[in-house]
Amino acid sequence: MRYSDAMLKKIMIATDGSDASKEAAAVGIDIAHRSNGSVTAIYVMDIFRLAHLPGYATLPGLKEKILDLMKEEGKSALEYIEYKAQDAHVPCHKILAQGNPSDEILKVSRQLHIDLLVMGRLGRSDLEKFLLGNVAERVVLQSAIPVLLIKGDRC
Ligand SMILES: Nc1ncnc2c1ncn2[C@@H]1O[C@H](COP(=O)(O)OP(=O)(O)OP(=O)(O)O)[C@@H](O)[C@H]1O
Ligand SMILES: [Mg+2]
Repeated sequence: MRYSDAMLKKIMIATDGSDASKEAAAVGIDIAHRSNGSVTAIYVMDIFRLAHLPGYATLPGLKEKILDLMKEEGKSALEYIEYKAQDAHVPCHKILAQGNPSDEILKVSRQLHIDLLVMGRLGRSDLEKFLLGNVAERVVLQSAIPVLLIKGDRC
Protein backbone atom coordinates (compact mmCIF):
# COMPACT_ATOMS: atom_id res chain seq x y z
CA MET A 1 0.00 0.00 0.00
CA ARG A 2 1.24 3.50 -0.76
CA TYR A 3 0.82 6.24 1.77
CA SER A 4 -0.19 9.75 0.82
CA ASP A 5 -0.56 12.83 3.01
CA ALA A 6 -4.33 12.47 2.92
CA MET A 7 -4.13 9.11 4.69
CA LEU A 8 -2.08 10.46 7.56
CA LYS A 9 -4.64 12.57 9.34
CA LYS A 10 -4.53 11.33 12.90
CA ILE A 11 -0.99 11.69 14.16
CA MET A 12 0.08 10.57 17.61
CA ILE A 13 3.21 12.15 19.10
CA ALA A 14 4.73 10.28 22.04
CA THR A 15 6.69 12.55 24.35
CA ASP A 16 8.91 12.11 27.37
CA GLY A 17 9.95 15.77 27.22
CA SER A 18 13.29 14.93 25.57
CA ASP A 19 14.87 16.91 22.74
CA ALA A 20 14.23 14.02 20.36
CA SER A 21 10.54 14.00 21.23
CA LYS A 22 10.39 17.77 20.70
CA GLU A 23 11.81 17.24 17.23
CA ALA A 24 9.27 14.46 16.73
CA ALA A 25 6.56 16.94 17.71
CA ALA A 26 7.68 19.40 15.03
CA VAL A 27 7.57 16.67 12.36
CA GLY A 28 4.23 15.26 13.55
CA ILE A 29 2.61 18.69 13.61
CA ASP A 30 3.94 19.42 10.11
CA ILE A 31 2.46 16.19 8.74
CA ALA A 32 -0.90 16.90 10.42
CA HIS A 33 -0.86 20.41 8.99
CA ARG A 34 -0.30 19.10 5.46
CA SER A 35 -3.13 16.57 5.71
CA ASN A 36 -5.56 18.93 7.46
CA GLY A 37 -5.44 16.50 10.32
CA SER A 38 -4.88 16.62 14.05
CA VAL A 39 -2.32 15.54 16.63
CA THR A 40 -2.71 13.59 19.83
CA ALA A 41 0.17 14.08 22.26
CA ILE A 42 0.73 11.33 24.81
CA TYR A 43 2.99 11.16 27.87
CA VAL A 44 2.96 7.98 29.92
CA MET A 45 3.82 8.14 33.60
CA ASP A 46 6.12 5.14 33.87
CA ILE A 47 4.93 3.89 37.24
CA PHE A 48 6.75 0.56 37.12
CA ARG A 49 10.17 1.88 36.25
CA LEU A 50 11.21 2.78 39.79
CA ALA A 51 9.40 0.01 41.58
CA HIS A 52 12.60 -1.96 42.22
CA LEU A 53 14.30 0.92 44.07
CA PRO A 54 14.81 0.37 47.80
CA GLY A 55 12.23 2.29 49.75
CA TYR A 56 9.92 2.86 46.81
CA ALA A 57 7.05 0.98 48.41
CA THR A 58 7.94 1.57 52.06
CA LEU A 59 9.41 5.08 52.50
CA PRO A 60 6.51 7.36 53.39
CA GLY A 61 5.67 9.79 50.64
CA LEU A 62 8.40 8.71 48.20
CA LYS A 63 6.09 7.07 45.69
CA GLU A 64 3.67 10.02 45.76
CA LYS A 65 6.51 12.50 45.32
CA ILE A 66 7.86 10.65 42.29
CA LEU A 67 4.38 10.43 40.81
CA ASP A 68 3.95 14.18 41.31
CA LEU A 69 7.25 14.86 39.56
CA MET A 70 6.27 12.61 36.64
CA LYS A 71 2.91 14.35 36.39
CA GLU A 72 4.62 17.74 36.26
CA GLU A 73 7.06 16.55 33.62
CA GLY A 74 4.18 15.08 31.61
CA LYS A 75 2.04 18.19 31.81
CA SER A 76 4.81 20.44 30.64
CA ALA A 77 5.84 18.06 27.82
CA LEU A 78 2.22 17.94 26.63
CA GLU A 79 1.76 21.70 26.92
CA TYR A 80 4.87 22.23 24.81
CA ILE A 81 3.28 20.20 21.99
CA GLU A 82 -0.09 21.89 22.42
CA TYR A 83 1.58 25.27 22.14
CA LYS A 84 3.48 24.30 18.98
CA ALA A 85 0.31 22.80 17.45
CA GLN A 86 -1.71 25.94 18.21
CA ASP A 87 0.99 27.97 16.53
CA ALA A 88 0.53 25.85 13.38
CA HIS A 89 -3.30 25.92 13.68
CA VAL A 90 -3.40 22.17 14.12
CA PRO A 91 -5.96 20.73 16.57
CA CYS A 92 -4.24 19.02 19.50
CA HIS A 93 -5.53 16.57 22.07
CA LYS A 94 -3.40 15.75 25.15
CA ILE A 95 -3.28 12.46 27.02
CA LEU A 96 -1.51 11.91 30.34
CA ALA A 97 -1.52 8.13 30.79
CA GLN A 98 -0.06 5.79 33.40
CA GLY A 99 1.58 2.41 33.02
CA ASN A 100 4.17 0.83 30.78
CA PRO A 101 4.96 3.48 28.13
CA SER A 102 5.11 1.27 25.04
CA ASP A 103 2.01 -0.72 26.05
CA GLU A 104 0.04 2.47 26.67
CA ILE A 105 1.20 4.16 23.46
CA LEU A 106 0.18 1.09 21.44
CA LYS A 107 -3.14 0.64 23.27
CA VAL A 108 -4.22 4.27 22.94
CA SER A 109 -3.13 4.44 19.29
CA ARG A 110 -5.43 1.48 18.56
CA GLN A 111 -8.32 2.93 20.56
CA LEU A 112 -8.11 6.28 18.77
CA HIS A 113 -7.55 4.78 15.29
CA ILE A 114 -4.32 6.68 14.88
CA ASP A 115 -2.79 6.68 11.36
CA LEU A 116 0.85 7.42 12.22
CA LEU A 117 2.96 7.36 15.37
CA VAL A 118 5.83 9.84 15.63
CA MET A 119 8.44 9.58 18.38
CA GLY A 120 12.11 10.02 19.16
CA ARG A 121 14.68 7.31 18.47
CA LEU A 122 16.04 7.95 21.94
CA GLY A 123 14.58 9.70 24.94
CA ARG A 124 15.53 11.08 28.31
CA SER A 125 17.81 8.29 29.40
CA ASP A 126 21.41 9.48 29.29
CA LEU A 127 22.69 6.03 28.45
CA GLU A 128 24.28 5.86 25.03
CA LYS A 129 22.70 3.22 22.86
CA PHE A 130 23.66 1.92 19.47
CA LEU A 131 20.16 1.52 18.19
CA LEU A 132 16.95 2.47 19.91
CA GLY A 133 15.64 3.20 23.36
CA ASN A 134 13.44 0.54 24.93
CA VAL A 135 10.19 2.39 24.39
CA ALA A 136 10.98 3.15 20.73
CA GLU A 137 12.09 -0.43 20.09
CA ARG A 138 9.00 -2.03 21.60
CA VAL A 139 6.66 0.31 19.75
CA VAL A 140 8.37 -0.28 16.40
CA LEU A 141 8.31 -4.05 16.87
CA GLN A 142 4.69 -4.26 17.95
CA SER A 143 2.86 -1.48 16.15
CA ALA A 144 0.38 -2.37 13.42
CA ILE A 145 0.53 1.18 12.03
CA PRO A 146 3.54 3.08 10.62
CA VAL A 147 5.99 4.54 13.15
CA LEU A 148 8.26 7.45 12.32
CA LEU A 149 11.36 7.65 14.53
CA ILE A 150 13.07 11.01 14.75
CA LYS A 151 16.73 11.37 15.60
CA GLY A 152 17.49 14.04 18.14
CA ASP A 153 20.80 15.94 18.20
CA ARG A 154 22.27 13.38 20.53
CA CYS A 155 21.46 10.42 18.28
N1 LIG B 1 7.05 7.77 29.13
C1 LIG B 1 6.91 8.05 27.84
N2 LIG B 1 5.73 8.52 27.37
C2 LIG B 1 5.58 8.80 26.06
N3 LIG B 1 6.56 8.66 25.14
C3 LIG B 1 7.74 8.19 25.54
C4 LIG B 1 7.99 7.85 26.91
N4 LIG B 1 9.26 7.40 27.02
C5 LIG B 1 9.78 7.47 25.79
N5 LIG B 1 8.89 7.95 24.89
C6 LIG B 1 9.09 8.17 23.45
O1 LIG B 1 10.04 7.24 22.99
C7 LIG B 1 11.18 7.93 22.45
C8 LIG B 1 12.42 7.09 22.73
O2 LIG B 1 12.63 7.02 24.13
P1 LIG B 1 13.17 5.71 24.86
O3 LIG B 1 12.62 5.74 26.24
O4 LIG B 1 12.88 4.54 23.97
O5 LIG B 1 14.76 5.93 24.86
P2 LIG B 1 15.75 6.28 26.08
O6 LIG B 1 15.03 7.09 27.12
O7 LIG B 1 16.95 6.90 25.43
O8 LIG B 1 16.13 4.87 26.61
P3 LIG B 1 15.54 3.96 27.83
O9 LIG B 1 14.28 4.59 28.33
O10 LIG B 1 15.33 2.65 27.14
O11 LIG B 1 16.62 3.93 28.83
C9 LIG B 1 11.14 9.31 23.09
O12 LIG B 1 11.84 10.29 22.31
C10 LIG B 1 9.65 9.57 23.14
O13 LIG B 1 9.19 9.96 21.87
MG1 LIG C 1 13.32 6.39 28.09
